[in-house]
Amino acid sequence: MGTTARKMIRSCSQWRLLIAVSIMASAVSGRDLNQTTATDKEMKVQGGISRRPLVTALIVFGDSIVDPGNNNNLPDTRMKANHAPYGKDFTNHVATGRFSNALLPSDIIAQRLNLKPLLQPWLNVEHTPEDLLTGVSFASGATGFDPLTPQLVRVFTMDQELEFFDAYRRQLVSIAGEPEASRIISNAFFFVCAGTDDFANTYFMSPYRAGDYDIPSYVSLLVSGAESFLRNASARGARKMAFTGMPPIGCVPSQRTIGGGTRRRCEARRNYAALMYNKALQELINKLNGEPGFGTLVVYFDIYDIIEELAVHGDRYGFTEMTHGCCGSGLIEVTMLCDTRYMGVCDDVDKHVFFDSYHPTQRAYEIIVDHMFKNYVPLMHL
Ligand SMILES: *[C@@H]1O[C@H](CO)[C@@H](O)[C@H](O)[C@H]1NC(C)=O
Ligand SMILES: *[C@@H]1O[C@H](CO)[C@@H](O)[C@H](O)[C@H]1NC(C)=O
Repeated sequence: MGTTARKMIRSCSQWRLLIAVSIMASAVSGRDLNQTTATDKEMKVQGGISRRPLVTALIVFGDSIVDPGNNNNLPDTRMKANHAPYGKDFTNHVATGRFSNALLPSDIIAQRLNLKPLLQPWLNVEHTPEDLLTGVSFASGATGFDPLTPQLVRVFTMDQELEFFDAYRRQLVSIAGEPEASRIISNAFFFVCAGTDDFANTYFMSPYRAGDYDIPSYVSLLVSGAESFLRNASARGARKMAFTGMPPIGCVPSQRTIGGGTRRRCEARRNYAALMYNKALQELINKLNGEPGFGTLVVYFDIYDIIEELAVHGDRYGFTEMTHGCCGSGLIEVTMLCDTRYMGVCDDVDKHVFFDSYHPTQRAYEIIVDHMFKNYVPLMHL
């Protein structure tokens, strides 16, 4: 084999490793299993006061931050977390497909809305009718607003997530009837979290976009994908929607390793891209909210500042490890590379901001969700 061919093979497999490594960020750490596995009933009577659900249902779209296992049975993707050590602090240590040591933000949000202890995936679990009535997650790890992003790693597109929602709505109608299905949807909390994989994987790691797009024009591509998603969801009856921006992508452990030099600093171009997207996304949201006839209240949920705070000053929150994931070396492992068959896992997960080299721990997620409930949920007039 010639040197060139060998080099090509090497760079191709490197690229695959990197793509694998940089999926989107989320995770969970289970410090209080009894709380996180509280039953519905326990949740409602905590403190002796019946806690009324704040909404009818929680309906979630997006990527691995909020995918509780929709990717599990996809045949051609490695973007799955249904193996140990994922779920190591989940009830019975089950690796449900959640990209974390236990719960995802979507679960924690369902708890904070007094709905239920876990938000299940639309696929791969058997739902009870009651569970469907209070919502599910359609999210697919590693998807994004650039149509190429899910295609490269063979996961569900945002349009497919909307089609799942259509099937879900039909089931609601068959369980509860059309008027009740309408009431549930129009009083539901819609939560959308996607976009990071577009930059982290497709733009910065694959060769397919960076040649044709500079950062501003790629931001425009993503924002137009976000706009079409928002219009489609609005047309489907969503009335209250939380829409997250991007985190400081350059500060997650894998991106520090790849782009941060020998000292593994936060990588500046990725953070610049995330900030530029967040600004353009807010302009889009303001435009839509001001449009007569656009029937959805969309609220921008900033996650940049709080994740930067955790990733740089996590010691203020009791973390001691902010730059390495808990899984393996903590430098690069995520999805199939984060696997107890090949590597170890830390035993002080609650000291870590990140569980793998991309997704936060449950403990970090709880802080992020607290931040959302303090700063942004009140703007939704639930
Ligand atoms: C959870 O509850 C059980 C019994 O109610 C108790 O034995 C166990 O120590 C508790 N675990 C935690 C982590 O609090
Ligand atoms: C979403 O909207 C676009 C047009 O903006 C359309 O082409 C697409 O088919 C829609 N997707 C779904 C699932 O309805």
